[in-house]
Amino acid sequence: MSTETKQPRVLIFDTTLRDGEQSPGATMTHAEKLEIAGLLDDMGVDIIEAGFPIASEGDFEAVSEIAKRSRNSTICGLARANYADIDRCWEAVKHAARPRIHTFIGTSPLHRAIPNLTMDQMAERIHETVTHARNLCDNVQWSPMDATRTEHDYLCRVVEIAIRAGATTINIPDTVGYTYPFESAKIIRMLLERVPGADTITFATHCHNDLGMATANALAAVEAGARQIECTINGLGERAGNTALEEVVMAMRVRNDILPYSTGIDTTKIMNLSRRVSQVSGFPVQFNKAIVGKNAFLHESGIHQDGVLKNVQTFEIMRPEDIGITSNNIAMGKHSGRAALRSKLKEMGFDLADNQLNDVFVRFKALADRKKEVYDEDLVALVSDEQTNDAYEYLQLKKLRVICGTDGPQEAEMVLSVDGVDHTIDATGDGPVDAAFNCVKMLFPHQARLELYQVHAVTEGTDAQATVSVRLQENGRMVTGSSADTDTIVASTRAYINALNRLIVRRQKSNPGDDVKTVSYHAE
Ligand code: KIV
Ligand code: ZN
Repeated sequence: MSTETKQPRVLIFDTTLRDGEQSPGATMTHAEKLEIAGLLDDMGVDIIEAGFPIASEGDFEAVSEIAKRSRNSTICGLARANYADIDRCWEAVKHAARPRIHTFIGTSPLHRAIPNLTMDQMAERIHETVTHARNLCDNVQWSPMDATRTEHDYLCRVVEIAIRAGATTINIPDTVGYTYPFESAKIIRMLLERVPGADTITFATHCHNDLGMATANALAAVEAGARQIECTINGLGERAGNTALEEVVMAMRVRNDILPYSTGIDTTKIMNLSRRVSQVSGFPVQFNKAIVGKNAFLHESGIHQDGVLKNVQTFEIMRPEDIGITSNNIAMGKHSGRAALRSKLKEMGFDLADNQLNDVFVRFKALADRKKEVYDEDLVALVSDEQTNDAYEYLQLKKLRVICGTDGPQEAEMVLSVDGVDHTIDATGDGPVDAAFNCVKMLFPHQARLELYQVHAVTEGTDAQATVSVRLQENGRMVTGSSADTDTIVASTRAYINALNRLIVRRQKSNPGDDVKTVSYHAE
């Protein structure tokens, strides 16, 4: 439910697809970016920062496509303070009904030293680039990067220049997560008081979480007059991440008595987005993460359980349904039909196309045969697995048997289809997963380095499904594969194969004429 009222509106600017995707290893595929952008738009995010168009052809295509498909959200692209970046950004965002160019430059002493510009030279650059952006687009956001470590007088001076040049939003980034709530508020207040024209534009706050204060800093800035919060789903982002969207939105809703601001966010869509972003980025949500962590609504101790049973408000300040956690957790059994599955998934926020639903239904039946109870989390894992399965499957797991024991080495026997041809192979390894991966490597030799191998039990019990994420790196290309199965070895092998298939697609994109089997040493 939206918190739309007569209260001052705080705009929610989501940068999961730009700052979030910038965190090492969180790379998403084109299709995943479009899907996440669609979900953000549906949830009521005011501005989606869809990427950094000049960074790569892939970023450019993603931002353009997101702009074309956008419905209500403003679509924003990032650009450094030069004409080439700004032009490229405009080329990508101009397709949106509501486009925005976001241009930035580092203004603190440390950041000014990098392009080796004097204060005056930088001021001139800001004037020129913001003017150029504004000549292309009516909606221009400007950011003095590392604002919280910029001299106050200089910050006021450059903000004034950007406003005079036509910026409509001024974003104040705490780029290194250094500020403190009191200081975050003080900077916004100072700008509002000292800069001519400050009352004609919107101030935004963009906080990083290096000291764990990103949410507090963002809310303090709002209390001081900022009316746009920049944030990401699950707090994804460089280093310790950005302000988490779910935290600021729910804080303004739950503590509306002291934070009397409204947003346009449909909070019941939060949980689905959180799960999806976690799956596509390969970044798990910590169990005790505020709002969206697995334990956020669990009551373990006897005193808490007793209290909650008597009156839920004794230990719950918000309801699970508020963020889209359905109360009926036992999903369905093996006798449930396709229509029941469709309606259950819809209730959980998944609107699948018919062919996707058919595939999920087949897998649901197979799972229900093997597992006593199928929970909501199991369904989420099945759906995400389906959504992760790419159309192009150069490698396909056909059969896998492993032999484990206390007196290793473990052995794996595999039938793997490589480009449509089945091959049988066996290999040993230090553990069954290693043995299975060795089979794949023998049939598809490659140089990709395993950067992450992560296993999570979806629910409780020994028959729980495991979701596995595998991240590979080859010549600077980073890909993440994932899969779910009640058999951890099968899920691991599928996740590994999924990552390799994605790597093959990336190789082909960067070197279109090459044979995917032999290309492995090109720099991108
Ligand atoms: O953290 C930061 O300073 C940024 C800018 C590009 C706005 O992400
Ligand atoms: Zn940032």
